[in-house]
Amino acid sequence: MSRVCTRTRSTVTGNDARPEPFKTGEGPRILRSTAELRELTSHWRCQGFTVGLVPTMGALHRGHLSLVAAARAGCDRVLASIFVNPLQFGPGEDFERYPRDSQEDLAQLRAASVDAIYMPPVSEVYPVDFATTVHVAGAGFDRFEGAARPGHFQGVATIVAKLFSATGPSRAYFSEKDAQQAVIVARLARDLDSGVEIEVCPIVRDPDGLALSSRNVYLTPDQRPDALLLSRWLRECQLAFKAGEGLADRLRGRALAIFGDRGKIRLEYADIVDPMTFAPLEFCAAGARLVIAARLVGLRLIDSATLGGRPIP
Ligand code: PAF
Repeated sequence: MSRVCTRTRSTVTGNDARPEPFKTGEGPRILRSTAELRELTSHWRCQGFTVGLVPTMGALHRGHLSLVAAARAGCDRVLASIFVNPLQFGPGEDFERYPRDSQEDLAQLRAASVDAIYMPPVSEVYPVDFATTVHVAGAGFDRFEGAARPGHFQGVATIVAKLFSATGPSRAYFSEKDAQQAVIVARLARDLDSGVEIEVCPIVRDPDGLALSSRNVYLTPDQRPDALLLSRWLRECQLAFKAGEGLADRLRGRALAIFGDRGKIRLEYADIVDPMTFAPLEFCAAGARLVIAARLVGLRLIDSATLGGRPIP
C-alpha cells in the first residue's frame, strides 16, 4: 500500500498520530515481507522520524550491537535486517554453513531496543524471476576482497541497494572491519542518489585484539593464536609508524616475517593503501589504511586499521 505523507513530525501530537502498523505489543516488530517493510518505514517517515538502518547477516555479536547503538543514538527509529544474502557468496564459499541463530539474534536486538527487524525469506528478496543486480566498479573494487571473492561486491551492492530502496533510511551503519565494503556502499549511496548517509563505525575487538566476526564461531581454541597474527601485524604497523617508519614496503615485509614460518595459516594479502581507492602506497602516511586477509583451514579472516588511528589492543 502506498501512503501519501501529509504531516511532519512537528504537527503530530500523541492522539493525532496515525496508529503504527504492525504494532503487536512490546518489543520490535518482526517484518517478513518487503510490503511490511515499506509500510512501516513510510509510516515512520510520514511522522517525521529519521530512520537508521543496520543491515546484518545475523549471528550477531558486540560489533553488530555497536552499530545498533550508533543508530539508536543518531536516529529516531532503528531497523535492523537479518538476511544471509546468497548473492554475495561465491561457489564453494560458506553460504550453507554460515552461522545462523535467529532466536539469539532476536533476543539481542530486543535487548538493544531496536524498533523493527526485517528478516525475509530468500524467496521474498530474490523471487524466481529476479534479474537485476547492481554492478559495482570504480577505484578499488577489484582489489583485495574484490579479487579474492569475484562477484562478492555485486552481491553486497544488490542487497544494500534493495534495502535502501525499500526502507528509505536517513542513515545506514556499517563496520570499518569490512573497509572496502564501507567505501563501496558509500559510493553506491551517492551514485544511486539514495540520500542515505553512511556511518562507518569502529571495529569491536576481543581484549586480545581479535576483531569480532560472526565467523569466529568456527575458530577452535588451538587456532586462536594463529588468528591473532592479523591484529598483531596491524598493531606492529601502527607502532612502527609511530616510531617513524616511513616505507610501506617495510610494513609489508613485517607481515611476511610474522606469517612466514606458520604452517596452518596462510597470508593472502597485507597492504598499506589509500583509504578511498585502495591503491597500494609507497610511503606511510597518517590515515592510510592497513588491510589484511589470511586463510586458516577453511576459514577466511580479514582485518583492518588506520595508520595513526585508534590503537589495536
Ligand atoms: O557486512 C555484512 O554483514 C553484509 O555484507 C551486509 C552489509 C549485511 C550485506 O549482506
